[in-house]
Amino acid sequence: MEDKLNFLQQRRNIILQGGGTERIEDQHKKGKQTARERLEQFLDPGSFTEVGTFVQGGLEDASTMDIPLPGEGVVTGYGTLDGRLVYVFAQDFTVSGGSLGEMHAAKICRVMDLAAQNGAPFIGINDSGGARIQEGVMSLDGYGNIFFRNTVNSGVIPQISVIMGPSAGGAVYSPALTDFVFMVDNTSYMFITGPQVIKAVTGEEVSPGKLGGAATHNEISGVAHFRARDEQECFMLLKKLLSYLPSNNLNNAPVVPTAEPTLPAEDLVNLVPADPNRGYDVVDVIKRVVDGSEFFQVHEHFAKNAVVGFARIAGQSVGIIANQPKFLAGCLDINSSDKISRFVRFCDCFNIPMVTFVDVPGYLPGVHQEYGGIIRHGAKILYAYSEATVPQVSVILRKAYGGAYIAMNARSLGADYAFAWPTAEIAVMGPEGAINIINRREIEKAENPEGERKNKVNEYRQKFANPYIAAARGWIDDVIDPGDTRRHLIRALDSLKDKFEDRPRKKHGNFPV
Ligand code: HXC
Repeated sequence: MEDKLNFLQQRRNIILQGGGTERIEDQHKKGKQTARERLEQFLDPGSFTEVGTFVQGGLEDASTMDIPLPGEGVVTGYGTLDGRLVYVFAQDFTVSGGSLGEMHAAKICRVMDLAAQNGAPFIGINDSGGARIQEGVMSLDGYGNIFFRNTVNSGVIPQISVIMGPSAGGAVYSPALTDFVFMVDNTSYMFITGPQVIKAVTGEEVSPGKLGGAATHNEISGVAHFRARDEQECFMLLKKLLSYLPSNNLNNAPVVPTAEPTLPAEDLVNLVPADPNRGYDVVDVIKRVVDGSEFFQVHEHFAKNAVVGFARIAGQSVGIIANQPKFLAGCLDINSSDKISRFVRFCDCFNIPMVTFVDVPGYLPGVHQEYGGIIRHGAKILYAYSEATVPQVSVILRKAYGGAYIAMNARSLGADYAFAWPTAEIAVMGPEGAINIINRREIEKAENPEGERKNKVNEYRQKFANPYIAAARGWIDDVIDPGDTRRHLIRALDSLKDKFEDRPRKKHGNFPV
């Protein structure tokens, strides 16, 4: 028996050492931790339990200590985060560059299946040279098996990708299929074709970081949702995100004892400028309404004309969606449509009630937007809100014009309650645009056209640009004092906590993409 225990221990030690001291040092020199160090750092201390430790490709002789690729370049298992079960994989760059072969993929698929069966979030730490070239089509089959599970498990358990090294070629598509992607400055990058191929094909010269680094995917492409300065900060953000989420689609998110906002509600009356053309930061409004004034933004650096993220109201997780008048006057455009609709769908999958703060002059006009397909992108928001059955409350702060009024979850799309501040302007279009159409002749004929235009704008604003016409039809449930917003939201959400809504049975809808 002693021999067997020694054999076991030796074999395990080889696997625990991954690619060996030299490659581990290389990894550290690049500012990266090893797979096992990462798991130790982010899971609750001592909670990691490895699954498939001895998995190996090409088992010709299991009686020796010859293990060419310890762990097959990936560490898989489960552990807890703040006491809650999660399933994980961490690719081990020190073993064949973390490249993905048949058994590497099999290990990942095993924990994906376990995560789905046990209703626990699935977290993948990616640090890999992509498909293991020597294993050819078996690697590709491995990726296919992962993509399939990413899709089947979508909306069942939260799936999160953490990029902590290269993620190139088709390998980027597993992260792209998951709910949230985290990236780390300087050490992580994602692209379909790298700088050399791009140079050969199009002649463009670009560095890996500029092509697919954390800043690029957080600010420009929107592929990544979170950006961290280093691995430690990345894990901190990941933990924070998970604290707002349920473990699966049959559970609710954990309820956390309520803390009043630290920022005063009295400020709300003056936060939105009286001049409808002046911007402000809608985050200042959100923070005065939610528990502890804590708002955790998702996609913070992308499509800044919209704001989405998680907060708590009376201890309950809520998804917050808002227009951001500080950027592009809060207009909806292609990117913000993608940002909002994806977030709305996530909240709906996972039973997270939504609160929408509206201040939107319309969809962004422009040839670039039309050519880029603002019609089909904008349709995503309509679809996502209409499809959602979780509790939904909208609060109109100021402008709510035209199609964008509907898109930001008007009652007609499915908001359970809609409130408006007295400053709300709900109409088909803004006064300037409207009077150019309905009063054009009178203005042209007037002795003082500019004076007449101003009069007509004021008339229109008084007559149409207010919350009371919508409230008269019942589309606004109440016009509220801004300082009372939190109280109204708490009551509304509480009244909706057992909401149940059934829809016609179908295989799935045809979401506009
Ligand atoms: C096999 C690989 C590998 C791969 C790296 N290695 N990538 N082995 N298959 N795809 C090995 C190297 O041979 C080396 O082994 C070790 O990992 C570390 O690699 P280095 O090149 O020394 O590291 P570094 O200089 O940091 O460069 C990392 C890298 C580079 C940028 C990722 O290795 C690279 O370009 N790799 C190939 C990337 C790629 O084209 N992958 C295929 C993409 S196509 P030793 O033994 O020397 O330490 C794809 C299709 C998926 O993924 C399709 C899915 C649908």
